[in-house]
Amino acid sequence: MTTDILHEQKILILDFGSQYTQNIARKVREFQIYCEIHPCTLTFEEIKTINAKGIILSGGPASVQEKDSPLCDPRLFELGFPILGICYGMQLITHLFGGKVDSSPNREFGSAELMLNEFSDMFEEVKNNSIVWMSHGDRISKLPTGFKGIASTNNSPLAAIENSSEKIYGLQFHPEVVHTIEGTKILKNFLFKICECSQNWKMESLIEYMIRDIQNKVKNSNVVCGLSGGVDSSVAAVLIHKAIGENLHCLFIDNGLLRTGEKEKVESTFRDNFNINLDVIDAADRFLEKLKGITDPEQKRKSIGNTFIEVFEEEAKKRGDFTFLAQGTLYPDVIESVSFKGGPSVVIKSHHNVGGLPDKMNLKLLEPFRELFKDEVRLLGREMGMPDEIINRQPFPGPGLAIRILGDITPERLDILCAADKIILEEVKAFGLYNDLWQSFAVLLPVKTVGVMGDSRTYESVVAIRAVTSTDGMTADWAHLPYELLGKLSNRIINEVHGVNRVVYDISSKPPGTIEWE
Ligand code: XMP
Repeated sequence: MTTDILHEQKILILDFGSQYTQNIARKVREFQIYCEIHPCTLTFEEIKTINAKGIILSGGPASVQEKDSPLCDPRLFELGFPILGICYGMQLITHLFGGKVDSSPNREFGSAELMLNEFSDMFEEVKNNSIVWMSHGDRISKLPTGFKGIASTNNSPLAAIENSSEKIYGLQFHPEVVHTIEGTKILKNFLFKICECSQNWKMESLIEYMIRDIQNKVKNSNVVCGLSGGVDSSVAAVLIHKAIGENLHCLFIDNGLLRTGEKEKVESTFRDNFNINLDVIDAADRFLEKLKGITDPEQKRKSIGNTFIEVFEEEAKKRGDFTFLAQGTLYPDVIESVSFKGGPSVVIKSHHNVGGLPDKMNLKLLEPFRELFKDEVRLLGREMGMPDEIINRQPFPGPGLAIRILGDITPERLDILCAADKIILEEVKAFGLYNDLWQSFAVLLPVKTVGVMGDSRTYESVVAIRAVTSTDGMTADWAHLPYELLGKLSNRIINEVHGVNRVVYDISSKPPGTIEWE
């Protein structure tokens, strides 16, 4: 595998726990260069095998002055690869090469002006005095042996260093974030001028590479995949099907908490268009029975998660022996849900959907997108000929409509929500806004209000419209929907959905709100 063309052009990123590590990977891939992120504890042997064109040491929350601060194997500096240390990575280089790192009297968080002091390949065509993004408490007070300072800011006299003959560079600021105005140029210089990479990370070659990788891993064994209809598991299923054909078996579990028409869409897309082995399991009654009387959001999630695992396990067992469970896990999911083995990142939240499944069923995980971002998965799906309808689908949560029905989940309330939700989707699409919104949906509130229809008094439910813009779901803004659309939605929902006499619009951003109401 190491002779693969992608591997010959690979950039290795060693992660010291920075919240920006994924941004570095993103930037590298935008230049059509393949890269992989590994924990900083990657062994020397593994580093040698990877045979990268260059190595980037990320930032991280630790201080090299602390006793147990994370390290990489120092022998990697003897391999002759160009190396770039960013923030903590730069301080580590300083520490390992006999320089000095001290706590800065003024911690530097936010923007600073970068003064270029010396000519450097790193700064070719970079403007002097441009704004860079700083996020550090420590700074370099003495240069490491063999290095010179090439740029400074008011608080950091050594904001960038280099040893050009050894091709080792350090930046105190973060070139990978958008706030560093010339950051892309600086990274570009490192990748193309210093590492001499060429652009060959194309979707087609990535698909070929991934297919071979899946074939090597899976060999003749069988893979089961829980298809949710969402982008990630859908693209994963199509890719794995390309690699192993009949040995992939997809299960779509209808939990009774799906949007109107969802099940039928998934069935026709996968069975008819892609000829994928697919079983649709109708488990709605079982899920709804278990949810009876539960109003607490966390209890709802737990109940749905547990039932899903039970049903999936039973149904998979009926269908034979599986060695692998395929999932469409993305890089941000990995970063959020697991601390890298031996690495310093912090666990932010645990995976909410099928976390317990692999252990319980003794399955190995097959996660071809562990190093990709959502928009890259979308590109990949498009390249494989998947319809826009699936590729551009708005995210839909694992617990489904249950977390959009506040209070009791009953068949009647589910019907109300489905009908209102369908109207919202229809109208948002008709206004051409579907692809601009991260999500747009209905929420059924557990209150009734008084209204008047015809000449009669009504006492009925309230539906909230939720529509947000976001790039990753981690933060979000309420969408500034046109009044005309809001008016149309209110009109149609109140007229067409029996049991609703009032519609409100949610104007909370995240944080402090969340996207889903539960
Ligand atoms: P919140 O509500 O936390 O949601 O702002 C952020 C994004 O995650 C989705 N979401 C989930 N997705 N299982 C999922 O697969 C879940 O349990 C879950 N909870 C929230 C939500 O729709 C939004 O896109």
